[in-house]
Amino acid sequence: MNVLLTGGMGYIGSHTAVVLLQSGHRLVLYDNLSNSTYKVVEKLTQITGLHTPFINGDVRNTQLLTEALATHHIDAVIHFAGLKAVGESVEKPVDYYANNVQGAISLLEAMQSVDIKTLVFSSSATVYGEPQYLPLDENHPTRAINPYGRCKLHIEEMLGDVAESAPDWRIACLRYFNPVGAHESGLIGENPDGVPNNLMPYIAQVAAGKRAELSVFGADYPTADGTGVRDYIHVMDLAEGHAATLRFLSQSPGLHAINLGTGQGYSVLEMVRAFEKASGCHVPYRIVARRAGDVSAVYANPHKASECLSWRALRSLDDMCASTWRFQRSERSGMTL
Ligand code: NAD
Ligand code: WQD
Repeated sequence: MNVLLTGGMGYIGSHTAVVLLQSGHRLVLYDNLSNSTYKVVEKLTQITGLHTPFINGDVRNTQLLTEALATHHIDAVIHFAGLKAVGESVEKPVDYYANNVQGAISLLEAMQSVDIKTLVFSSSATVYGEPQYLPLDENHPTRAINPYGRCKLHIEEMLGDVAESAPDWRIACLRYFNPVGAHESGLIGENPDGVPNNLMPYIAQVAAGKRAELSVFGADYPTADGTGVRDYIHVMDLAEGHAATLRFLSQSPGLHAINLGTGQGYSVLEMVRAFEKASGCHVPYRIVARRAGDVSAVYANPHKASECLSWRALRSLDDMCASTWRFQRSERSGMTL
């Protein structure tokens, strides 16, 4: 298939690009580089031996996007592009609605104008809000609790209306849990600007000596060791989930919301210990107050993904930590992004 990846230069997009290229798809990466760099294209060539066209553009530039879809005879789009920091979305809601919701509208206009009707959308487990039960299945009520999550929900609802409007739309909303890890080469990975918002990159930077200690946000949750529990999924498993979704959509018109998680939760302290084991480095930490908006435990029921996509996450927590560490080290030695 010819597949256009919006946000294809970012963390999840670049790993998905590796998997799709290695499965024989032809790709176009479309990204405004607001949270990535041009070097990703070179890294992808290094990993796959294949050259991938890259278009430096914003998804809100409907004309440029339409031209890209038509020129490259695109069959399907995977829409990764978007802003993703929850805290920033509270401070700058208009930026988030403008970039994420307007971006999705622009993409749909472009796809409609050239009659492309297969779309995979990067949604998030954040659409479930505070869990009413665990594990979270796709029928769990949705109730986002911040502007970032509400953007995801608005887009999912919009995609529902679009899928209803004509029977030949094929749309998957993939609700990712907590993507971590990196490609085994250590060439691509998650490289946050400034202080990391998320646990795994923060732990990696502490292990590498870049930050003094980890703040553990709360040890008084009703979990086994009192710290927050999440469903961490290896980014390469997640990437393979996208390839499986393209295969599924080719047989399955309509709208499908599907969790991509492992079904297994790990606590913050379990993550610290696993990272220490994988890296051989000490990760000092201090227990501090809970972070506003956090919940005690979130993990997926991954049954629908296994039924529909014949896919499940295969990589272990050790793989997640070891690959993160490999990327962290190569990043420090200046090999990467
Ligand atoms: P990322 O920031 O690494 O990648 C997003 C890419 O989109 C970046 O390369 C950025 O430059 C690009 N981009 C942003 N706005 C754009 C625009 N208007 N036009 C063109 N390009 C634009 O983020 P990621 O972690 O790879 O996330 C990809 C998608 O998955 C996002 O939609 C995110 O909300 C979603 N998601 C991520 C996580 C996570 O924890 N990483 C979890 C759930 C869902
Ligand atoms: C994980 C656990 C923290 C940092 C976020 C978004 C979500 C999704 C994934 C996009 C929690 C604890 C963290 C630290 C800590 N993104 N923690 N010290 O909050 O589950 O999800 O990323 O869709 O929308 O909200 O992930 O990695 O921030 O936190 O103790 O320095 O680690 O309290 O228990 P989260 P996270």
